[in-house]
Amino acid sequence: MKKTSHTDKQRDKQREEDALMLLTEDHQEVKELFAEFAKLAESQSSAKTKAKAEMVGEICRQLTIHTQLEEEIFYPAVRDAIKDKFIMDEADVEHSVAKALIAELEAMEPTQDHYDAKVIVLGESVAHHIKEEEDEIFPKATKAKIDTIALGAELTQRKQELLAEKKGEESTKAKKPKSH
Ligand SMILES: [Fe+2]
Ligand SMILES: [Fe+2]
Repeated sequence: MKKTSHTDKQRDKQREEDALMLLTEDHQEVKELFAEFAKLAESQSSAKTKAKAEMVGEICRQLTIHTQLEEEIFYPAVRDAIKDKFIMDEADVEHSVAKALIAELEAMEPTQDHYDAKVIVLGESVAHHIKEEEDEIFPKATKAKIDTIALGAELTQRKQELLAEKKGEESTKAKKPKSH
């Protein structure tokens, strides 16, 4: 039987904390959520309204944290290391477009006009952005030998903070006394 050596374990742990892997996992999760939403939207049943709102809430929450992590930690490191300003500018603009749609969706009810279309368009735009990150930006980051393990550790720590902040915001909202 092959024993897992200390170095094997260390290597596995490092792989888990690799920034490119962590970001790719986030991408996968959000793509699955958009696919689930598309199924709900197809049914056009009013019974699905609550499920849609919950799903969109989760999509917006995940995308907001993910874009913030990239903008605070990952993008500045990549921008410094690679010789392609345009590709990073394009990624910034794609984030702005997503944020604008997220803000609109967060202010809407699922029964409102154009709600489903907005979610679907956000999904298409995010899918395009993810493809550019994974096919172009990540390989350039690897080629430029940026320290993706150190960045991964930073991402993990910051993500925990942001998740805790979001939880705090949500429970304050829930606790707000109703006006009589
Ligand atoms: Fe991004
Ligand atoms: Fe991303």
